[in-house]
Amino acid sequence: MSEALQRLNREHADFSKLLDLLDRELAVFASGERPDYDLIGAVIDYCLEYPDAVHHPKEDLIYGRLKSRDAELAKVVGDLEEEHRQIGAMTRELAEAMRHVLAEELVDRHAVHELTRRFVQRYRHHIALEEGRVFPAAEKVLSADDWAAIDARLEHRDDPLFGDAVVDRFRALRANIEGLAVIAREA
Ligand SMILES: [Fe+2]
Ligand SMILES: [Fe+2]
Repeated sequence: MSEALQRLNREHADFSKLLDLLDRELAVFASGERPDYDLIGAVIDYCLEYPDAVHHPKEDLIYGRLKSRDAELAKVVGDLEEEHRQIGAMTRELAEAMRHVLAEELVDRHAVHELTRRFVQRYRHHIALEEGRVFPAAEKVLSADDWAAIDARLEHRDDPLFGDAVVDRFRALRANIEGLAVIAREA
């Protein structure tokens, strides 16, 4: 598998840990307790900073090439590009809502949690479609020259949460995810 796809798959596995965490906090809310809003806010900030700013543009480069080569896939690829825009808009909307929640302002918490639930659902569906349908097609259709051209256009950016150097504001989130990973292994 091309290096770019391997990396995107690894990032999906990382993002899925964040979706699990959001699911867990949604369950806390559903049970009538107060979720860890600092943690949810950090997940959303990270989504703005890395998935929306790095991961999705990387995929858009791949999809742009794929669309012109495979007419059958053009529709589904077009839908994924549109979803990148929608996910970006939902992330910004959630970031704004979380700022109000964290400032202890009067906010419709149910609406915030409903938006979070739809966000998790859409993200999971999006990732499943990419991994199940579009990445295997990209692997088959794109040539070594395509991958080299895609790589050449990608500016490398370290992942501020899952990378080697975790930035300060994501330390608590990283520790929480690693704690969850330990619990999952022990279960
Ligand atoms: Fe995507
Ligand atoms: Fe993706």
